[in-house]
Amino acid sequence: MRFLVVGGGAREHAIARTLERAGAKLAVASANANPGLDRLAERSVRLDPTDATRVTEFAREAQVDIAVVGPDPPLAAGVADALRAAEIPTVGPDRAAAQIEWSKWFCRDLLARRGVPGQPRWVAPTSVAEAERMAADFGAPFVVKPSGLTGGKGVWVQGADFTEPKDGAMYAKSLLLQGGRVLYEEKLEGEEFSLMAFVTDSGVYPMPTVQDFKRALEGDQGPNTGGMGAYSQRDHLLPFLSSADRDRALEIVEASVRALRAEGLTYRGVLYGGFMLTRDGPRLLEFNARFGDPEGVNVLTLYEEGDFAELLAGVAHGTVDPNLVRFRLRATVLKYVVPPGYGDRPRTGGILELDEGAIEAAGVHVLYGSVDAAGPGAVRLTSSRGIALVGEASAIHEAGSRVESALRFVRGDFYVRHDIGTKEDLARRWEHIRRLRAPNAKASPLPLSVAPPDAPPASHGAPETLLG
Ligand code: AMP
Ligand code: GLY
Repeated sequence: MRFLVVGGGAREHAIARTLERAGAKLAVASANANPGLDRLAERSVRLDPTDATRVTEFAREAQVDIAVVGPDPPLAAGVADALRAAEIPTVGPDRAAAQIEWSKWFCRDLLARRGVPGQPRWVAPTSVAEAERMAADFGAPFVVKPSGLTGGKGVWVQGADFTEPKDGAMYAKSLLLQGGRVLYEEKLEGEEFSLMAFVTDSGVYPMPTVQDFKRALEGDQGPNTGGMGAYSQRDHLLPFLSSADRDRALEIVEASVRALRAEGLTYRGVLYGGFMLTRDGPRLLEFNARFGDPEGVNVLTLYEEGDFAELLAGVAHGTVDPNLVRFRLRATVLKYVVPPGYGDRPRTGGILELDEGAIEAAGVHVLYGSVDAAGPGAVRLTSSRGIALVGEASAIHEAGSRVESALRFVRGDFYVRHDIGTKEDLARRWEHIRRLRAPNAKASPLPLSVAPPDAPPASHGAPETLLG
C-alpha cells in the first residue's frame, strides 16, 4: 500500500516511520524539507499543506492508496474533503467534522445541545458590551478562548495570563473587534491529560493516555505553546490518573462521537480529547481532530504489534480490526528541542548538529520537527519546534533520564524543558490531585484510587509484564 502523509513535523515523521515499518510505501507533502520524512519517502514534494488542489494533484500523481492528514490547518482548509472527492480514502475528518477542533464555539454548542457530560460552564459574548457584562457576571476565575484555530496558543487563563475580569474582557473585546468568536469558560483546576482515539464508522478505539507540557518554561511557567514535550506511563494511565478516570474520559469521547453522528457528520480519523482531571473527575478542555503533537509521537513509539498500515487503511475505509490497536507496555518521555525564545519570540535560522546514530544507540528515538535539512547531520531551526527526542523505559523518570543523556549529542543554540518526566515533577502532579481530592478539600463524588508515581498499578496485568 502506498500512503500520502501531509505535513512536515515530528508527528508526521512518527506516522511515516510507523507506516514504513509496516512495509508501506510513502509519499510526503510538506512545506519544509524534513530530513526524517524525506529519507523515508519514495516521493516528496514541497507545497503549502493547506492547498487542497495541489495536495490532491500530488496524491493522484503519486498514485497513493490512502492519505493521512497530520496537522490541523489542512483539515480546517478542507484538504480531507478534497482527497475524498478525488476518491482517495483518507485518515482525517472532513472540514465540517474537523470543526470540533477549529471552532471552539461549534464544539461547546454541539456537546451542550446533545447533552454530552463533562463540560465546564461557558458563555459566548457576541458584542463588546456583552464581553464586559459577562466578564463581570461570570463570578469565578475564567478563561478567554478565541474560537478559531490558534495552535493552542490563544487561550488566556485568569491568574496566569490576566488578573482582573476587566483585563480578560479587554482581550475578548480585541478578539471580537478582529471579527472572531470568543468563549468564556470556567477555569478548571487540576492536571491536564490527553486521550486520543482512532474513530471510524465501526467504533472508537482508544490509545494510551499522555500528559503534554503546554507552557514554554519549566514549572509550567511562560506562554502556552504547541507542547514542549510529553510522557506516558507503562500501564497507559498516568501517575495521577486512575483507570476509572480514564474510562470516564473515554465515555465523554464516545458520547461526543455519537453527537457528531447525530448531526449527520461522518468522522474517520483520530479524535484527541484534551482533559482536565479535576476534583470532580475529567472535564473536557477541547477536542483536536488529529494526533496530538507531541502526544501522537509518544503513542506511535509504542505501536509495535499488528500492522499500522492496515490499521490506518481501516480508519480511512470505515472498519477497524480492534486487534490492530495494540500498544506496548512501556513508559515514554518526549522532549522537544526548540529554538531559544520559543513560545514568545523564537530565534529562527539557528543550526543544530546532531549525532543521530549515537542518540539512537542510547535507546532514544529521533523525530524531526519543523526543521529544514542543512547538510549531513545538521538541520536549520524554524520558528517552530525542532527535534523530538523520545526515551523509552519501564519507569517514566528513567525514560526522561535517557533523553537527558542523549542531549549531549545535540550541538547548537537551543532550549529544552529539563523538568519533563522527572521524579520531582511527577510527584508534584500526583500530590496536586491528591490534595484536590482530599476529603477536606470539599466532598468528591469519585473514589480516590490513584497510585503513587510509577508504582506498579494494581489493576493492569501481571507486574512482571509491566516491569519488563
Ligand atoms: P485549548 O486550546 O482549549 O486546549 O486551550 C489551551 C490550554 O489552555 C489548555 O491546554 C489549558 O492549559 C488551558 N485551558 C483551556 N481551557 C481551560 C479551562 N476551561 N480551564 C483551565 N485551563 C484551560
Ligand atoms: N499537544 C497539543 C496539540 O497537539 O495541539
